[in-house]
Amino acid sequence: MFKEDLLKGKKILVTGGGTGLGREMAKHFAMHGAELYICGRRQNVLEETANIITSKYDSKVYFDTLDIRDSKDVDDYVQFIFEKGPLDGLVNNAAGNFISPTKDLSPKGFDAISNIVFHGTFYMTHSVGKRWIESSKKGSIINILTTWVWTGSPYVVPSAMSKSGINTMTKSLAAEWGKYGIKINGIAPGPFPTKGAWERLNPDNNDESMMDTVPLGRVGEMIELQNLATFLMADGCDYLTGQTIGIDGAQYLTGGGTFSQLDKLTDDDWEKMRQLIRNANNKDKANRT
Ligand code: HXC
Repeated sequence: MFKEDLLKGKKILVTGGGTGLGREMAKHFAMHGAELYICGRRQNVLEETANIITSKYDSKVYFDTLDIRDSKDVDDYVQFIFEKGPLDGLVNNAAGNFISPTKDLSPKGFDAISNIVFHGTFYMTHSVGKRWIESSKKGSIINILTTWVWTGSPYVVPSAMSKSGINTMTKSLAAEWGKYGIKINGIAPGPFPTKGAWERLNPDNNDESMMDTVPLGRVGEMIELQNLATFLMADGCDYLTGQTIGIDGAQYLTGGGTFSQLDKLTDDDWEKMRQLIRNANNKDKANRT
């Protein structure tokens, strides 16, 4: 879809880049010539991802362990990167989530999610953004959100609340930091199965009931998400900022519609419906005369 060297010369940091969506986006950036920084809590998966990328693509990948819940560690890490040279892009991908009835959550369970998603994402954005502003360097930020930022969602309330906050940060900073040449957008993926997310959000592997809710009848293909992230990271569309783009096969629009369940009707069912409606109309007309 893109020129091979689309991201050549760009340095991009992907948080949570050792696994899942972060790893896939990092791979695609490297494939298009970017130099990568990836961080996360587990050294082994970061190293594995760096090895996979460097064995396949002519790209440098630096990996470091980091828990984004610690604001000082975040700032030290970003300082360490910028001492070697400024970043061009940041993908706030690191997240934590699990399904649970909200009444059963402990305060620590709430904090476990919100400290990563809400606080950690801000710490990282702030650390990178202020350095861009100080050095008059332009940059691009992508926040990985969910469609729950528009609808809310039961059973993942700490995540829905935290990601909604980051969606608000996306819009707010687009306005505040636009004058510095910093663009900031969100990607709201629907179901893109990855091991980490699916173990916590779909632990009984009930893909079928989830697919019922997607008009396209399938989960997302990783390349679709990779292409969107690469497009947002590339130059050429700087006027696009402050936007959160859903990529979910219209799942959330369908779920929110009053008549979404009609998607399941066959042509025969529709013919019966038409007949019933006609009967009702005719009855009305008969009563009028
Ligand atoms: C209820 C739970 C729980 C569960 C943990 N807790 N899991 N409560 N149900 N299933 C509670 C614990 O009991 C404890 O509270 C508190 O949370 C902290 O637990 P820890 O295990 O000590 O937390 P920690 O080690 O900090 O781990 C954080 C984590 C973990 C979020 C809980 O799952 C994690 O590190 N996840 C990272 C990867 C991840 O989640 N990926 C999925 C992202 S998907 P008490 O009071 O008992 O001490 C995503 C959106 C995808 O973000 C959208 C797709 C459509």
